[in-house]
Formats: sequence, C-alpha cells, structure tokens
Amino acid sequence: MAIVYSEATKEFHIHNDKISYILQVMPNGEMGNLYFGKRIKHKDDFSYLVEGRLRSLAVYNKENDYFFSQQYSRMEYPGRGTGDFREPAYQILQQNGSLITHFEYESHKIYEGKKKLPGLPATYVEQDDEAESLEIHLYDRQICTECVLNYTIFRDFPAIARSVRFQKKGMEPAVLTRVLSASIDLPDADYEMIQLSGAWSRERSLVSGRLRQGVQGVGSCRGISSAEHNPFIALKRPQTNERTGEVIGCSLIYSGNHLEQVEVDTNNTARIQIGIHPEGFSWRLGEGEEFQSPEAVIVYSEQGMNGMSQVFHKLYRTRLVRGKWRDRERPVLINNWEATGVEFTEEKLLQIAKTGKELGMELFVMDDGWFGGREDDKTGLGDWFVKNREKLPEGITGIASKVESMGMHFGLWFEPEMVNKDSDLYKEHPDWILCPPDRTPQPSRNQYILDFSRPEVIDTIFEMMDRILGSAPISYVKWDMNRYMTDCYSATASAEEQGKVRHKYILGVYSLYERLIRKYPDILFESCSSGGARFDPGMLYYAPQTWTSDDTDAMERIKIQYGTSYIYPLSAMGAHVSAVPNQQVGRETPLQTRGNVAVFGMLGYELDLSKLTNEEKETIRKQIQFYQKYRWLIMQGTFYRLLDPFQNNDSAWMVVSEDQNTALIGFYRRQGVPNGPWIRLYLDGLDENRQYYLETDGDRKTLYGGDELMHVGMVVKEEQLCNHGGDCSSEIFVLQASK
Ligand code: DGJ
Repeated sequence: MAIVYSEATKEFHIHNDKISYILQVMPNGEMGNLYFGKRIKHKDDFSYLVEGRLRSLAVYNKENDYFFSQQYSRMEYPGRGTGDFREPAYQILQQNGSLITHFEYESHKIYEGKKKLPGLPATYVEQDDEAESLEIHLYDRQICTECVLNYTIFRDFPAIARSVRFQKKGMEPAVLTRVLSASIDLPDADYEMIQLSGAWSRERSLVSGRLRQGVQGVGSCRGISSAEHNPFIALKRPQTNERTGEVIGCSLIYSGNHLEQVEVDTNNTARIQIGIHPEGFSWRLGEGEEFQSPEAVIVYSEQGMNGMSQVFHKLYRTRLVRGKWRDRERPVLINNWEATGVEFTEEKLLQIAKTGKELGMELFVMDDGWFGGREDDKTGLGDWFVKNREKLPEGITGIASKVESMGMHFGLWFEPEMVNKDSDLYKEHPDWILCPPDRTPQPSRNQYILDFSRPEVIDTIFEMMDRILGSAPISYVKWDMNRYMTDCYSATASAEEQGKVRHKYILGVYSLYERLIRKYPDILFESCSSGGARFDPGMLYYAPQTWTSDDTDAMERIKIQYGTSYIYPLSAMGAHVSAVPNQQVGRETPLQTRGNVAVFGMLGYELDLSKLTNEEKETIRKQIQFYQKYRWLIMQGTFYRLLDPFQNNDSAWMVVSEDQNTALIGFYRRQGVPNGPWIRLYLDGLDENRQYYLETDGDRKTLYGGDELMHVGMVVKEEQLCNHGGDCSSEIFVLQASK
C-alpha cells in the first residue's frame, strides 16, 4: 500500500495490491482523475491518460489552446460555471451572487494512518500501518476559500475512503449549497447501476438498470437515510454476476439526506457522485469556519457482487463498528412488541421472559409502551420515565432486576428524537419541535420531531435516558425513530442558518449516541426506524446492529436480508422469528423456515411464547442451540449469495469460516414445485483441495470434495427440506472439513 506523488507530472498514485487510483493536477490547476480500478504497476508518468483535442462547441481554458477542456476531461471534484456542464460536486454562493469557483492545487500531505472526522461516523484504523492517507489542499484565491480532498487507502481492503472539507479563510462569508463527499469520472459508461430501494416492510430490494445518457440516481430528502433508498449504489459491468466480474460500490457513512447518482455525458463517460443531498442544504461559512462532509467508501472488486459485498462486510464489521460488542457474540433476544404492542402488564412480560429463558434466550427486550402516559401512539413520547405504576409497579429497576434474577439480561426501547403533543415534555417546551413559527406541523404516527440541532434539547433527552440507564441493570437499548422529517425549521436558528438544520439534526443524533456509548460502554445498541428505515453505515458506528425490517415473514425476509447483504454484514442485521399468520403479510410459514432465515442474522424472537405448543418450544430450543453453536461463524464468516430470491423460486446463501473448515448453507423454496427438476446448488468459498462432511447427512459420512461442491454442485433433495419441499420449505446444511 502506498500513495506516491510524482512532482514532475504532478500525479498521485494511490494504490495497494488490489486497486489503483490515479489523480493529476490538470492544466488549469484543478484536480483530474486519470484512473480507478484494478491495481496497475506504478510509473512516474501516466499523463497520456489526459485526453484532449479540438471539438466544436467545446469550451477551452485558454485562447488558442485546444487541448484541455473541462467539458471533456475527467475531473476529480468538479465545480460549475467554467466549462464542465455535468453535475458539480459542490457549489458556493458568494456575496456578489456568483457561483463561479476555481480551486487550484496548492499543496498536499501524505501520512500513515487515518484521522477521525470530527462529530461524524467514519471508518478507522487500529494501527497506523493499516492505511495511508492523502490530503490535497486546493484554494480559490478570489473567495479565499480552501477545499481539502481527503483520501485513505487501506492495506487490507480494495477500498478508498473519501471526504471533503471546506474552510473559509477570508472575511467575506460564502454559502455552500452543495458539498458531495466524492465524485469520480469513469472513462466509459458500460455499466449497470444497482440500487437498494423499497419501502417500509420491503426495504433494500435489488433494483438495477443499464446506464443511459443523462443523470440517474437515488437519494433521500426524508431527513434520514430512509426505507426508500439506501445510501449506496454500485456500477457493475453487464456480464458481472455474484462470482465474477468488475464492480464499483459506493456507500455513504451518513444517516441523513443523501444523494447517489451517475451522469453519463455525450462522450459516454460516467460521473459517479455521492454525498449529502443538496435539497434544503446550505451552509454559511464565516471567516475561519469550516464544513466537513461525511465519508464515502468506494470499493472496487473484480470478484463479482459477492466480492464487493465481502469487502464492505469486513471493513464495516471490523473498522466501522466499534466498542465491546464489535467482536462479541450477540445475545439471542426475545422482544415483546409483536406479542403485546404497548398493552402489557409486568406479569405478562415476565411470563414471556421466563419462557424465553427456558428455551435458551439470553436477553429480554421491553419495547414501546413503558414510559410516560403511553397507552397508544398518541401519548407519552418524550417522557422517558415510568409514570404508569399499574404497568410497572417497581419501575424499570423492578422489572430489570426481576429479569436479571431469572438469569437473563434486560433491554429497553427508546425513541429519543420524538415527542407526542400529549406529553409533559411537549407541554413544557412546545417550541422544541421542528416547525416554522405560526405553522401547523404535519403529524406522522401522531408524533413530531424534536429539534436535535439544539444542544439544550439533546441535553434534556440525555438526562432522562441517563437517569433510566443508570437506575437499572440494562444491557441493551433499541433506539427507534418512527417518522420522516417535515416542517424542517429550527425555532432558534437565524434565517441564514436554517439550511444547516437537517445536517445539524443528524450531528445531534450522533452526539447523543456518542455521549451514551461513552457513559455506558457495556450496553449493546440496536438502531431501528420503523424497521429498517435508517439501516445505514452511519448508524453502525454507534449501534453495532440494526433492526432490519418490521416485516418478519420468512419469505419476505429472505429478500430483505439478501438485499441488505449487498453492503451490510450479517452481524449488523437484527433478525427475529415471529408468529404466524404473519402480522405484515398474513402468510403461514413453518417455524423451521422462520428460524432458518433468522439465524442468518442476529437472532431474536418476537412472539407470545406462552402460546407455543410443546412441539414448537422444542423446535425453538433446538434453533437456539444450533445458533449458539454457529453464531460466531455467522458473525465473522464470509458470506456468499448463491441464488437470488428476486429472480427465483428457490434461493440460497452460505457463510464460510475464515479457515474454510465449516460452512452453513441456507436453502429456501417459496412455492412447492410439483414433480420439479433436480436441485443442484453450486457452493462457493470452500477449499478445493479439502473434503467435507455434510453433517445433515446424519450417520451417512460421505465425503465431498470442496471442488465437487463448488463445480459439480451440492445435490439438494426435496425430502431434506422441512415441509417436504412444499411451500415455504427450507433447510440449513452444515459442512465440516474432514481432519
Ligand atoms: C417500530 C419498530 O420497528 C418496531 O419493532 C417497534 O419497536 C415499534 N416501532 C414500536 O413502536
């Protein structure tokens, strides 16, 4: 891994043993991109990659010099107004109304390791020799503003982390109206764009389409990353599949409004951009002030989509997630939400917890309904204390201690960013919600958003949460967020500061998380937003796992977990077994299948355990024992998608231990197939030179070569599946290498 600068050609070659990223100071002093892709050997001069010639209608930089035109060059961090007519990476509104900028190379720094991003989540290193970083300092003399482009290349990952910082040096203020985290110009547009899109209860479906001339992209203006579009896109070659071929994946470590887009221009080049969504964003910079963008992570893989995902998984699992729970086995939990909603008594909850303990569950989570006057979704949010002693006679301390004394841990639900009008907090501070004065804010789920851009609001919520967390043995917190942002206006911000509110809100969320995890480092946080509406890398920096979706139907969950696995590791996905008929889709699926899906995530249960038959209890007991035996593998193994549920009736995935000794294969069938074809599953990631037992073969100790299982395929027989291969049937196969 190295970052090499050639003074003679003013080129930077950022590379490790898998990827190269080459930049150059262009003839006009701005930065240009020469190459991003598979590693190429270093040489001191790549300037032949700068292409230029006379073209009609082209805008040039100098009279009588027809070589360099921004319009036809691959720019690194493009502005607008001086000849590049594609989408800019930034825009600065100046005092005189001009948007024209010209940021020229001034200097650079190369250093070992990686700096933190103040107040923002970001990837990190534990030792300086894990990464090398580059800061390129650009300056616009007219507006006395510095722009610093930050790059980090990791030794062990084909990935580059990028962010940008603007700093105002001169007195005259300027307003940033667009600051994306990264922009990359690729020399051709022969790609398909993949996005993870959906809605509540069907988050992160795979959507793809061929690039075409013009701008195409996704984003969120909902205040949070959203169920509709994840902050991610990938460009893959048309022939790339899960196992082979080139792909570039772009992911934003951010939880607020975001934009990911590709512009294909007349010349068939492709400009990828990723960063904070410019809508509603404006950031006024006074003298000496700076703005730091969130971090974007760009991964290049030539090992297909699985190759890209595996890089994101390992990078995010080991160098984005932090704290004690990063490498710890996560507890099997039982959550009361689908069993009781907000209507429960302590007795009912303890009954669920007791049965959970008997079945092997390790953590009881009390969901929504324990605080303030919460009787339904119209009351209580904002009052983070126990008011209703009929529900919880001895408060949180009482129920937490009772659960602990059963030998289980106790977890608690909060929705810190929200308030109901029917709450003490709102009555005392009606101006703490986001809303312009004299307007009526729009309700959603009868709740309103607290103005987390204001420190006094965060302080008050922190104090309430702190009082609860300090008062009882609480091992886990589920942090929910159940509405999108509207009426975004802060009562205390001046007119010219209103454009900062959306971003400051997210910084406020991060700051509250940071205070809580510092004070309570042993608590496992799980983030949630009406299911998976804020499943993003920003959240993972604070909460190692996220509730993947409110949709717990096994057949739907296969798709949701499959799509989510494009970027996020299994260790990040909360996955629960719930009751049938399923509350979201009414489908009946076998308990085995519900378990066989949920074990490929951080396992939990979410149903009234007192209603289970003895047979069901036995099935659950076995599921938990199986999970406890293999959960380390599920958390840390290498995950492969094998058969796509968006395209097929059958779907499959597998996880392989790093030493390639053990593998778990999940196979699922949506609808039974009468007199169906033979099923062969082509496995992946095994050692070609080793022999494996199929443990599910029982006593029949047949050995299969790793090469056979991958190239000839594993034969799956319908009778091996639960439900005899009928509707919603499934099986988990275990492979163990012979000694
Ligand atoms: C939405 C979450 O996704 C559910 O799991 C549950 O916690 C409810 N909120 C509670 O209001």
